[in-house]
Amino acid sequence: MPDGAQTGSTESPTYDAIGVGYADKRHPDPRIASRIVEALGGAKSVLNVGAGAGSYEPVDRTVVAVDPSMAMMGQRSFEVGPPIRAVAERLPFRDDAFDAVMAMLTVHHWVDRRAGYAELCRVAPLRVVFTYEPEVHNRQWIVEDYVPEIAQLDHRRPGFSAAEVADGIGATDVVTVPIPWDCTDGFIMAYWRRPEAFLDPRVRRATSGFSLIDQLAVERGLRRLEADLASGAWAERYGYLNDLDELDTGLRLVVGRG
Ligand SMILES: C[S@@+](CC[C@H](N)C(=O)[O-])C[C@H]1O[C@@H](n2cnc3c(N)ncnc32)[C@H](O)[C@@H]1O
Repeated sequence: MPDGAQTGSTESPTYDAIGVGYADKRHPDPRIASRIVEALGGAKSVLNVGAGAGSYEPVDRTVVAVDPSMAMMGQRSFEVGPPIRAVAERLPFRDDAFDAVMAMLTVHHWVDRRAGYAELCRVAPLRVVFTYEPEVHNRQWIVEDYVPEIAQLDHRRPGFSAAEVADGIGATDVVTVPIPWDCTDGFIMAYWRRPEAFLDPRVRRATSGFSLIDQLAVERGLRRLEADLASGAWAERYGYLNDLDELDTGLRLVVGRG
């Protein structure tokens, strides 16, 4: 069964199945967080859609969190208020209920993205979305050389791009967010300079790219990666990355106003 919106429910079978252990490796990165706080500006009330375990929620203002997955919401800190179970496509709030709405690394999971974007615009005059550009993301070495099946997930999301998000939330700019080599938020592109990390199943479990594809394909790709690390072939091809402190791996910040 697909995610909630199509079925009229607020359940998220996908993240209820793959979200366990997410918070273990997904610690908000302070450098990304500062960009998000800056984008939220003076907003006093913020809605976090697809909030999951609560990454990047500001701590100095009122935040309401929504997510369809019980497994994800169960990983939230007890210090923040109770989350509401809902999907982006049908937010249970009145028009302009919040100063700002944020959606972090979630829009690509929505069943009906256009409906979700419209809801973000309805509930807040400021929309801050952290997302990725599939074309750039899928050119990174872990996808292109080792697990190309991850790119196929985006083929099943026709039209998804940062430009689509910008159009949907009324943004004029799409800002590149370079990812530091030691990024603490364990999304797949966090490890562009730390290839050995992918051999750790806990790292893979915290990224939907690995969790949503055929596990035989993952094993095949990782066996090749392991061999290339041992033989020096990876270092020969990608050793230059060790000289870089940050890289554009496709992550984008999109801010819509009005
Ligand atoms: C990669 S996680 C991101 C969680 C959190 N925002 C973060 O940055 O760590 C994606 C989240 O989107 C949620 N999600 C999936 N479908 C959704 C939908 N239709 N509406 C809102 N959230 C959804 C999932 O349950 C999951 O918590």
